[in-house]
Amino acid sequence: MEKKWWKSSVVYQIYPRSFCDSNGDGIGDINGIRSKLWYLKELGINVIWLSPVYQSPNDDMGYDISDYQAIMKEFGTMEDYDHLLEEAHTLGIKIMMDLVVNHTSDEHAWFVESRKSRNNPYRDYYIWRDGKDGKEPNNWGSCFGGSAWQYDEATDQYYLHLFSKKQPDLNWENDAVRKSVFDMMNWWCNKGIDGFRMDVISMISKAPGLPDGTVGASGYGDFGPYSVNGPRVHEFLQEMNREVLSQYDLITVGECSGVTIEEAQKYAASSGEELNMVFQFEHMDLDGGESFKWNHRKMKLTELKAVMSKWQTQLYEKAWNSLYWCNHDQPRIVSRLGNDSPAWREKSAKMLATCLHMMQGTPYIYQGEELGMTNYPFSSLEEFRDIESINAYHELTEKGILTPEEMFDYISYKGRDNARTPMQWEDGVQAGFTTGTPWIAVNPNYKEINAREQIERADSVFHYYQKLIALRKQHDIIVYGDYELLLPDSEEIYSYVRTYGEQKLLVICNFTDREIAYELPEAFRNRKGEVLIGNDKRPEAKEAMALTPYEALAVLY
Ligand code: GLC
Ligand code: CA
Repeated sequence: MEKKWWKSSVVYQIYPRSFCDSNGDGIGDINGIRSKLWYLKELGINVIWLSPVYQSPNDDMGYDISDYQAIMKEFGTMEDYDHLLEEAHTLGIKIMMDLVVNHTSDEHAWFVESRKSRNNPYRDYYIWRDGKDGKEPNNWGSCFGGSAWQYDEATDQYYLHLFSKKQPDLNWENDAVRKSVFDMMNWWCNKGIDGFRMDVISMISKAPGLPDGTVGASGYGDFGPYSVNGPRVHEFLQEMNREVLSQYDLITVGECSGVTIEEAQKYAASSGEELNMVFQFEHMDLDGGESFKWNHRKMKLTELKAVMSKWQTQLYEKAWNSLYWCNHDQPRIVSRLGNDSPAWREKSAKMLATCLHMMQGTPYIYQGEELGMTNYPFSSLEEFRDIESINAYHELTEKGILTPEEMFDYISYKGRDNARTPMQWEDGVQAGFTTGTPWIAVNPNYKEINAREQIERADSVFHYYQKLIALRKQHDIIVYGDYELLLPDSEEIYSYVRTYGEQKLLVICNFTDREIAYELPEAFRNRKGEVLIGNDKRPEAKEAMALTPYEALAVLY
């Protein structure tokens, strides 16, 4: 297998608004990030994925961009950004930018022009259609509720928006759109950035004719079959690769909801014609259901293992995996798959980290995950900031699909704001995030859970992550070894073996709060393994072990 720097990297995602505020306005910013680079260096990561810092009216917190080549005022200036890039590079840390080009903001100059008249030169930068019998051009629903079409009086047509109505979809069929996007990307690459995380990139190609979708619980049609992994998506990405990506030494990851193994083998093929890797969603969708993700179902461990193992084995040597539990769109993993009660929070956070970081692929850590940060204890709707949760709450309760109590419960558990509460730096005012009033409330558990305390304590979650990252640098087996699942039917234990040449790495994780018996597989008996990492005081793997609650262990043979 070809060795590449992005295969052995560990990426850390920063959500700038919530990371560190340098000027007391309650909003995280670029100079705040600069002041914490030492922390990332200490943790040991070597790539930052920076969520959008571009100019934006913040309808979707920066994922609605009004100028791709300007920095959001609240976040600072382009000069601040240039300093950040330079300082990160000095520390050996690369920066991967978020690329949001399925849509722009409706305040982007292209859209401002586009909506002016039907013959404006920018008209075809977006997807405009006539209504059908006085209604929307088709039945598609948007990801943030309601129709995916917005009527615009000025020109008596509708424009498509798969997300909010302030996020009109770009028309990738138009050569000029692709050229503009590639020019913009080249401009950033020439600045010296190190890669792109591509927002909903699997949705850029829409099927001709934009056919109606199957109507779901929301009453709207599903656009999925006609705009996820659409007919020209690979052609577009190959063109992007030729025009931009192949010209530089970059790390690229495509956010690909709805991606299958077969599709991922194309997007992230080892031949390198498109992207380095994709974010798949199958494991994140396991606790979803009829009302999309809104429920508080727990994933079954056997299902989780089946999904993870499928990706581990079926991309091996064909494409590259990304590994993640968390990002700015997901609730906190320790509250979702682990146990966030004081007794087990740290231990279960370490177990989840072991389970993921010993797998094959490039791991992504989301800010605060390395501290075992938890979901937020929401007590009223006013505490939410996220358009997705707020819209879904109103839509599903007003239609009588879910009761207000149910829906409040669900958005509290699954809502994206859980990930977006401020980073907990210390036990002082506002967790050290800001000297002002934060744009979203700090989790009240910051007195117990914060970076300062964990840096000082050797057995903290922080130091555990630090060790996992260091191990990946030391052992090629973690990066390049193959993967085999053990005990597929166990609802308690997740255990797998990595193999690389003569070496084997045995990983054992107890996903329960109970003691569980584990028998060492034949192949490892009477052999002296080296415990690389573990979250309990177990010096060696024995033939028969009683795993303690949430125990995790990785043994090298
Ligand atoms: C991606 C982003 C999410 C955003 C959406 C629309 O899923 O991760 O935060 O709301 O795309 O841009
Ligand atoms: Ca600020």
